[in-house]
Amino acid sequence: MSQVFVSQHPLVLHKLTALRDISTDHRAFRELVRELALLLCYEATQDLHLAPKTVTTPMGLAQGHKAEERIGLVPILRAGLGLVEGVQELLPNVQVWHIGLYRDEKTLRPVEYYNRLPTEPTVQVCLVLDPMLATGGSAVATIDILKRWGVTRIKFLGLIAAPEGVERLTTAHPDVPIHVAAVDERLNEIGFIVPGLGDAGDRQFGT
Ligand code: PRP
Repeated sequence: MSQVFVSQHPLVLHKLTALRDISTDHRAFRELVRELALLLCYEATQDLHLAPKTVTTPMGLAQGHKAEERIGLVPILRAGLGLVEGVQELLPNVQVWHIGLYRDEKTLRPVEYYNRLPTEPTVQVCLVLDPMLATGGSAVATIDILKRWGVTRIKFLGLIAAPEGVERLTTAHPDVPIHVAAVDERLNEIGFIVPGLGDAGDRQFGT
């Protein structure tokens, strides 16, 4: 069963509002994307598998834990790039595997232009990173690629989703949890999320 987790954390809600604001400049926008990625990653990694680990403290032995899964971040180019840094602050040793997709402006279908995944999977868990889940086409296509690669544990981490994108992703991949800061009202006629935040790629990169 698919699960949709919409963060209720006050810091997420506060920062998301600043992110949406048309008066937020590119530099502040990038910083907010980084901070939101970190906060959402904290929530999205609550079920990571642990192995037991014993350490020696100054006072004796402590039974503890060690995160044991190999994790891959999969930013969808280009807007997903902005989420990488915040996640890496919590998960410094992850692999990053970029997937290049752009959305055809007329058909709204994703077009693949970059994929350098090796033949065999090198990670056990993938976090797909993309700030916007609009029609869901890009996320579904990326997760299709990752499943063909051989990864079975996949999560989607984004900032804002449209109900249409949530529906499409949960239908195509009901096993993939969706972690976002908000699910907005709708998509408009040109496939933008309303009220959303505009074009996440353009606002990060000043284009
Ligand atoms: C945007 C966004 C997602 C995609 C979402 O990327 O970053 O990747 O659209 O739309 P979907 O859910 O309908 O597929 P865009 O194609 O604008 O490319 P960019 O990231 O290079 O700006």
